[in-house]
Amino acid sequence: MKHLLSIADLSRDEAIEVLDTAAELARLSEGTVKKFPTLRGRTVVNLFFEDSTRTRISFEAAAKRLSADVINFAAKGSSVSKGESLKDTALTLQAMGADAVVIRHGASGAAHQLAKQEWMKGVVINAGDGTHEHPTQALLDAFTIRRHLKENQGDLSGVKVGIIGDILHSRVARSNILLLKKLGAEVVLIAPPTLIPVGVAKWGVDVSYSLDDQIKSLDVVMALRVQKERMNDLYFPTEREYARGYGLTSERMKQMKTKSIVMHPGPMNRGLEISAESADSQRSVIVEQVANGVSVRMAVLYLTLGGATFKELASSGESL
Ligand code: CP
Repeated sequence: MKHLLSIADLSRDEAIEVLDTAAELARLSEGTVKKFPTLRGRTVVNLFFEDSTRTRISFEAAAKRLSADVINFAAKGSSVSKGESLKDTALTLQAMGADAVVIRHGASGAAHQLAKQEWMKGVVINAGDGTHEHPTQALLDAFTIRRHLKENQGDLSGVKVGIIGDILHSRVARSNILLLKKLGAEVVLIAPPTLIPVGVAKWGVDVSYSLDDQIKSLDVVMALRVQKERMNDLYFPTEREYARGYGLTSERMKQMKTKSIVMHPGPMNRGLEISAESADSQRSVIVEQVANGVSVRMAVLYLTLGGATFKELASSGESL
């Protein structure tokens, strides 16, 4: 893996390799070893033009656990506010010796631009670009589903995932749809018609406008954040109306299958797409998603910067 720009760039086997590597790293991290020397001497830059809590911190934790040096760059307070371009920012980071750049940007395609224009010689990892993609979120979601429903093995065949809510503005939904289908899961998008993108018929997923019709059949109930900051129009009459039709509530959760799980990428609008009781319930794996994000991002850094797969390295006898 040279870069991680889109889930579309990964084959099924490469995606499973990331999940397997993350599983092994998680297993090793549960022991006494909390830090591995693998990326000693390498520099990872977190280049965040948009706000983030989970993604930025977990990439930082992941890089540090692999002994890389980490530079955190936030657009706020940088020369970006003086009008510096993405190209000049990238060239500056390159001059400082960045081996990998983890980029979040409000413009769809920003990570591709960074990689394809070769402003950076190092690895480029997309940490969310506009409404386009958020590949490491999809990988950590798949990792979490596999842990709960597939005994941490293989693909996600036989699993039915409902992705609920603001599909239109969601890069998480786009990456998840690509990855879940690649891994053999069945996907149904559940939202009001105004929040379903045009052209969804080509995505190879089912669409439903009724959460109540679907909830009984889902193995994974994945609620999405209503992205008010990206909404310039009225997509539903009122928040109360939205919560009534598409909010995950304790009442609705009673309809769920015995082993099904509740997910949300965060940050949550409690009381809108998910009630506080649902978010904090026994079936919720939302906090675990965050923890798994560190293992998955360690795996991505390891596979892109380390140059070898975990299995190759383990079988060659070299220690992590
Ligand atoms: N899920 C997610 O990307 O969260 P942050 O915006 O906090 O990184």
